[in-house]
Amino acid sequence: MCGIVGYVGPRDAAPILLEGLRRLEYRGYDSAGLAVLTDDGEVFVEKKAGKLSNLTDHLNGSAPAGHPGIAHTRWATHGRPNDANAHPHRDCSGRLALIHNGIIENYAEIKERLLSAGHRFTSETDTEVLAHLIEERYQGDLVEAVRDALGEVRGAYAIGVMHLDHPNRIVGARMNVPLIVGLGNGEGFLASDVPAILEHTKNVVILQEGDIADVTPEGVTIIGMDGVKVERPVTKIRWNIAAAEKGGFPHFTLKEIYEQPHAIGEALRGRVDDAGNVKLPELEAIEEKLRRVERVYVVGCGTARYAGEVGAHLIQSWAGLPANGQIGSEMRYSPPPIDDRTLVISVSQSGETADTLAPQKLASERGAVIVVVTNVVGSALTREADAVCYLQAGPEVAVASTKAFVTQVVVLEMIALHLAQLRGTMSDRRRRSFGLALRDLPGQAAEVLKLAPQVKKLARRWAGVRDVMFVGRALGFPVAMEGALKLKELSYVHAEGYAAGELKHGPIALLDPQTPLVAIATKSATYEKVVSNVAEVHAREAPVVAVATVGDEVIDRYAQDVLYVPETPEEMSPVIAIVPLQLLAYEVAVARGADVDQPRNLAKSVTVE
Ligand code: G6P
Repeated sequence: MCGIVGYVGPRDAAPILLEGLRRLEYRGYDSAGLAVLTDDGEVFVEKKAGKLSNLTDHLNGSAPAGHPGIAHTRWATHGRPNDANAHPHRDCSGRLALIHNGIIENYAEIKERLLSAGHRFTSETDTEVLAHLIEERYQGDLVEAVRDALGEVRGAYAIGVMHLDHPNRIVGARMNVPLIVGLGNGEGFLASDVPAILEHTKNVVILQEGDIADVTPEGVTIIGMDGVKVERPVTKIRWNIAAAEKGGFPHFTLKEIYEQPHAIGEALRGRVDDAGNVKLPELEAIEEKLRRVERVYVVGCGTARYAGEVGAHLIQSWAGLPANGQIGSEMRYSPPPIDDRTLVISVSQSGETADTLAPQKLASERGAVIVVVTNVVGSALTREADAVCYLQAGPEVAVASTKAFVTQVVVLEMIALHLAQLRGTMSDRRRRSFGLALRDLPGQAAEVLKLAPQVKKLARRWAGVRDVMFVGRALGFPVAMEGALKLKELSYVHAEGYAAGELKHGPIALLDPQTPLVAIATKSATYEKVVSNVAEVHAREAPVVAVATVGDEVIDRYAQDVLYVPETPEEMSPVIAIVPLQLLAYEVAVARGADVDQPRNLAKSVTVE
């Protein structure tokens, strides 16, 4: 969703804020803006629709000197993405500036009241009501005015506020949207996410729901909505800024695709021993509850949902529990049976997707055991979890998810093996053989990246393609759906992921010599059936690209192009089979001149339902 950053301290705020925004642009890029308290004693605000570069071009290095400051990059919800609706927003006096990520649900009624009290609005946003509401409550104490105003709003927010009367203070507040405070040496920061401030400090305080933070150069004081002071621990960030840089790659997407062997290794680190035993210490405290579980839902959105489908399949097959994947936005409003013998596994790179958070809350209210699989430490989903298994994949910056998918699958594989062990549903020998197969994955992922030149050539041929069909069976089906999603997101080529057996029940009508089919045809129990489906397509003269296991001598009778991947047990195949499809989506997008790292209309983390 939106990204916010704030600075208070002795340095000029503008360069720090603009650099912070650059690192937050993945959260939205409909507009960008900043506010700085200038050395001349004014609240300077500049904001521009479109990408951050529009703002920086406009400023042309001439942002005024001064501090503190706040800045924002927007993913539009209320109000079109134009200059007026861009943040920061000011109060009537022009002395207060405010940035916001989230949605104020009752903004219309507050706005009506404020308008009749004489406040003048300049935008169509829900956010602007906050600036005027704080103005209304302000009597010299900014923190108190923020607290008072927030008492009246419903919804989700991370905000940053500055005021002309307070040259050594920025105030932040959080409710259901992430916000961190950075503690520097004689300076303080607010940010939606770590990369925005990592260059300046590794010491951060992760704010909790309802926290209001008074950030000054000396440090931070946090109070709750009841006005009572609360203590929050300081977290030391372990990764460095290089991890949030492109590192010589033309795009973050490509860098993150290439990081996958390392990321898988990190996800496995300390969790699978030399004999292949999986150990997830994170689940130890809830082992008794896990033993009693009778059914499992794996919930997520977008890419995380497809990883969840793989996880559900494996839990069902290995741990013998009824398990299914759930779309976050659907589960909340048409919930399946949930009780205290239900395990809900929420899967989310960011840990803040509202559509995943909502069903998790519902499940928690109904007594379910909640396990969260996420990449972001301290994120919203983790706070209501019984246990959290982190991906340990390092920051994922590109909007389209790649290394998060493979590490989500790997962590879910480990959870499935852990459940199988707890429930005694698999022989030790078989369980360990899968543990050892997991340990082979980093090397195999590195191997499969060698397909890049072949994929690039294929992508060039495909630059003008309009529609592509992806098919797979069993574990190949979520891979097909994720492959199609990557192609859509990155290149804007229409793509559908289908269960291969369903092809003949309708979608085959779409296939013709201009509409290629991508088949996930790696070695599996359903391999022969997939080959039959591919043969049906071949007979209709649609070009076929197959992802197949090295040594397969049958598939190239039907497929124009075969992307050979290393042999794995079928259960591990999604981790490897998706990699050439990520590369394919990336290369098609590049060939079509699409904006790979920041596809149109998308945002990396979506904090509204
Ligand atoms: C957004 C992104 C997708 C992502 C989905 C879930 O829609 O554009 O790439 O898969 O959110 O994100 P999460 O952070 O929950 O994994």
